[in-house]
Amino acid sequence: MFKSGMPVKGDDFIDRIDHLKMFKTYIDNNQHIMIKAPRRFGKTSLVVQLFSLNDYKTIYVDIKRATTLRSLSEQIIDEVYALAGFRGIIQKTKESIASLLKQLRASVKIDMSIVEVTIETLEKNEKNQIDEVEFFLYALDLVEKIAIVQGVNIKFAMDEFQDILGIAKPKILDQMRSVIQHHQNVTYIFLGSIESIMNKIFSSKSSAFFHFARIIELGGLNINELSNYSKTFFTQHAMSFDDSLDTLIGYLEGHPYYSIKTLQTLYYKTLDSSSKIITQEDCINALRVGVYEAKSYIEEVLEKIKSKKHHHAIIWGLANGVKVKNIDSPTLYKTYKSLEDMGYIKKQDRGEYIITDIFLKLLLQQNSDTALTLENEINFVGLAL
Ligand SMILES: Nc1ncnc2c1ncn2[C@@H]1O[C@H](COP(=O)(O)OP(=O)(O)OP(=O)(O)O)[C@@H](O)[C@H]1O
Ligand SMILES: [Mg+2]
Repeated sequence: MFKSGMPVKGDDFIDRIDHLKMFKTYIDNNQHIMIKAPRRFGKTSLVVQLFSLNDYKTIYVDIKRATTLRSLSEQIIDEVYALAGFRGIIQKTKESIASLLKQLRASVKIDMSIVEVTIETLEKNEKNQIDEVEFFLYALDLVEKIAIVQGVNIKFAMDEFQDILGIAKPKILDQMRSVIQHHQNVTYIFLGSIESIMNKIFSSKSSAFFHFARIIELGGLNINELSNYSKTFFTQHAMSFDDSLDTLIGYLEGHPYYSIKTLQTLYYKTLDSSSKIITQEDCINALRVGVYEAKSYIEEVLEKIKSKKHHHAIIWGLANGVKVKNIDSPTLYKTYKSLEDMGYIKKQDRGEYIITDIFLKLLLQQNSDTALTLENEINFVGLAL
């Protein structure tokens, strides 16, 4: 099925064969990794799928959803105790400590000395008597401690890792690194979509996480895999199609989210029709719907691009195959780098840059501002339909 709006796994998960293999090899060897990709390229899905295919002990936190370092730490503590067989430790601390201790004694196979320190720390946290950074570092160390006593290696995924800088001071990276570098029983998986920050954290020599993790870059889905999946799917649902389907898939350049969204529209539209035939016109219409659905997001991206000097002119030039005049090469180079860091463009093997978001490119290719207010006027440059 073509699913959107949530990370996908199982039968809904398409392709990523090589990534899953490499990812699994690293994880099985307790190698920390960082996965970076532009928004909606399937980072979370990749982790969810790998975790669901293997019998790992896992912890998953989405830092974007944490409002404070304290709540993030509580979530980690909750999850690691759940792994050790005890659910809801945070909630229960808020209720009755005496009964909590009794329950813990009866149900977890962890050294009581560890448990006692946890409860003491949680009590201090309740009363705001512990500094939030100290509390966070305690939570991280606890994962290692519990992994050791359980004799396991815990795979710990931190999604939208760059957002840690939104809830803590930059120093947190050094503080974190100095704690987790000693962990032997935890394998860290960092995911991030703001490439500029992820690069700074993991690839800059002066950064705390330099050389800490192997970096996996996620590109688009493999077009052939996506095409085979789609054809099998439509055939199984008694729908017929012609070459337009492949043309459409190729046009979307393997962008996971846009491809899935567009194919989904196509499916529902055909489901509703009496003929069950996917026509060329259906393909164009599905694409049009996709662009409209993405419009406000793309416009936000454009605003960000426009707020930086030369960025719009250069990415516009890239979208339209036009060399930008009047910009010297150092500035050009710097701007390309900056756009790359922002995740909007990517360098290809031959040194050429491409725009990662196909709909952003499409928007930049419209020569009239009214193109997107009048549906029929979108000019799908390069679409052979
Ligand atoms: N391997 C895949 N197979 C099928 N669909 C996929 C795959 N990867 C991504 N998708 C589609 O793209 C959507 C976004 O995927 P996901 O949430 O995993 O991306 P992300 O990179 O974590 O995005 P974000 O930056 O928003 O967190 C999914 O809901 C799904 O529709
Ligand atoms: Mg995600």
